[in-house]
Amino acid sequence: MQITHFQLRKIFSKFWQEKDHKEIPPIPLIPQNDSTTLFTGSGMQQLVPYLLGEVHPLGKRLYNIQPCFRSQDIDEVGDNRHTTFFEMMGNWSLGDYFKKEQLIWFWNFLTKELGFKKERLYVTVFQGDEKNHLSADIESIEIWKSLRVDENHIFQYSPTKNWWSRAGIPDNMPENEPGGPDSEVFYDFGENLKIHENSPFKDQACHPNCDCGRFLEIGNSVFMQYKKTEKGFEELPNKNVDFGGGLERILAALNNNPDIFQTDIYFNIIKTIEKTANQSYTDEKNKKKMRVIADHLKGAVFLIKDGVYPSNKERGYFLRRLLRRTAVKFLQLKNQNITSNNLKPIVEEIINTYQDVYFKNNDLENIYQIISEEINRFNKTLSQGLKILAKIEKPTGKQIFDLYQSYGFPKELTEELLKEKGLSFDEKEFEKELKKHRDLSRTASAGMFKGGLADKSEQTIKYHTATHLLHQALFDVLGNSIKQEGSHITGERLRFDFYSLKKPTDQDLIKIEEIINKKIEEKIPVNFVILKKEEAYKIGAKSFFREKYPEMVKVYYIGQNLENAYSKEFCDGPHVKNTQTIDKINIIKLEKIGSNLYRLYAK
Ligand code: ALA
Repeated sequence: MQITHFQLRKIFSKFWQEKDHKEIPPIPLIPQNDSTTLFTGSGMQQLVPYLLGEVHPLGKRLYNIQPCFRSQDIDEVGDNRHTTFFEMMGNWSLGDYFKKEQLIWFWNFLTKELGFKKERLYVTVFQGDEKNHLSADIESIEIWKSLRVDENHIFQYSPTKNWWSRAGIPDNMPENEPGGPDSEVFYDFGENLKIHENSPFKDQACHPNCDCGRFLEIGNSVFMQYKKTEKGFEELPNKNVDFGGGLERILAALNNNPDIFQTDIYFNIIKTIEKTANQSYTDEKNKKKMRVIADHLKGAVFLIKDGVYPSNKERGYFLRRLLRRTAVKFLQLKNQNITSNNLKPIVEEIINTYQDVYFKNNDLENIYQIISEEINRFNKTLSQGLKILAKIEKPTGKQIFDLYQSYGFPKELTEELLKEKGLSFDEKEFEKELKKHRDLSRTASAGMFKGGLADKSEQTIKYHTATHLLHQALFDVLGNSIKQEGSHITGERLRFDFYSLKKPTDQDLIKIEEIINKKIEEKIPVNFVILKKEEAYKIGAKSFFREKYPEMVKVYYIGQNLENAYSKEFCDGPHVKNTQTIDKINIIKLEKIGSNLYRLYAK
């Protein structure tokens, strides 16, 4: 019998609960107080301070299922296994158990709880990295052998495959970032499907990390035991385990079908796309387009739920790209613009798929409204772009790139449309323009990987405590309607988004600034306590309404004691020890970013 995604969630939770693990609620797709990361891309995102050595309020054994978004995979969506949005099932040991327990437990989870045949499973381990003085992981090989994993099912790979950190291989890691060797498990869809033989990789030998798609990675146990420093790699205070396995991929393996879009977490969404576009998924020419629509709309739904709005910058730009590609793919599929009528059932089906796992009653209307406004706006540019294209007689690569860049026209669409008129363009010139642009955006995203949690630079920590002062000062001056919408800190400034019924006046801003600076001058100590969640709410600690909190929470307070503290806030830290460390704060800008929504910058 096929296991549904609801059942898989239950089996996974029960398995870790029985091993004394506490569930930590997933965090939003937009990590708070962490300017290093655009989107939550793995379950460990919220655990970075704890992997580096802080004490977690729920103890040393944790698990959860975390929605993730990986923007870097956007161009690969369309094959049978890549998506931008996915859910990661994770478990963690914060300095408790290590390799042996982890590998044996995960193996039992796969073979006993889920019933996978060991003949179908392959494992990989870290072969070492001489340059960085990191040794091969012989211990894991021994553990796999003790589980009777066949020797020819065990593969060793270099750091590009068997090392994990948020920044990738050891050489790419910034200082203070945690990472470690890992051991992955792959599911083999079998020789009989002739996946390798029919792939572009057919002339090379097949192995677990071959890109042909015969093998699918279904779980990664990272042995987080190092931190990058100026002098190289240093052992962390604890040897941690960070495990992550893609829920959709495990479902595909259980299905014994390499197409994750055929699992129950996509099936009805694809069916709805088939119905609205009046096309069949089994028709090869439609597959890629339908997968892109299913993935991108799902990603958009989750991003909007977590507070992203379409825009031309950072997170909002990714959302915009997802929706534009959706519109274009739909147009290619049906030869008609996507309209509100055919968009809504798909969005509805995405939300239905998850029932009460993630969504509330009024989510559909709110999310759908933002999506349809953005798509309607793009439909206008889409027609404009088509008009421009119609006028081009001798298309150049640069023109095609501009259409791609300004009107969101993917190259392959333009190519197809030109072909209908017997026209073509210089691919090389297009690629040259694209590369120029990519280098620019890469520099921009490399810039994102500085400051914030991993870089616990003093300046960021100061801004972090200043943000708590600001949050309370906003309440003092503007009243109780204030709701934090987001916060973003770099080494240069703090940014704070909030909801307020009262529009802040210049006078208000001056008052807010005065309060913060007074608190800084008063040299108030900053401390934290670990409390039951109810207790924390009761004493009026501020929380972030988009976040679900675990039973036990860390509350930072700015005051001599908790009772009469000026500010109390749910937060993982870190913070300065006393407000006197913070330099004088200046509010430099206030922007209106939506109805009753404001964005404030301070230095
Ligand atoms: N953090 C690890 C990953 O994302 C488990 O693969």
